[in-house]
Amino acid sequence: MPLQLTLCRLCARSRPDFLQMVNQLAAEYPGKIEIIELDCMAACDDAPSVMVATKYYAHVAPQQLSAMVHEKMEEE
Ligand code: FES
Repeated sequence: MPLQLTLCRLCARSRPDFLQMVNQLAAEYPGKIEIIELDCMAACDDAPSVMVATKYYAHVAPQQLSAMVHEKMEEE
């Protein structure tokens, strides 16, 4: 089962560096990451935020996201 990254489409697009990292990770792990884009994840004040599988993270820097995803992939 792919690792799910759930994010807000609007907030992600307002943070190009964050969105670029999401796309970079998806390209790095083809078929192993599923990007789920919501219209709003009720976390507007926490942007950029992301759910990695079932765990929620607020104010995520691109490098933090990268580290979290790499760590999850190493666990697999
Ligand atoms: S509009 Fe992005 S979390 Fe609400």
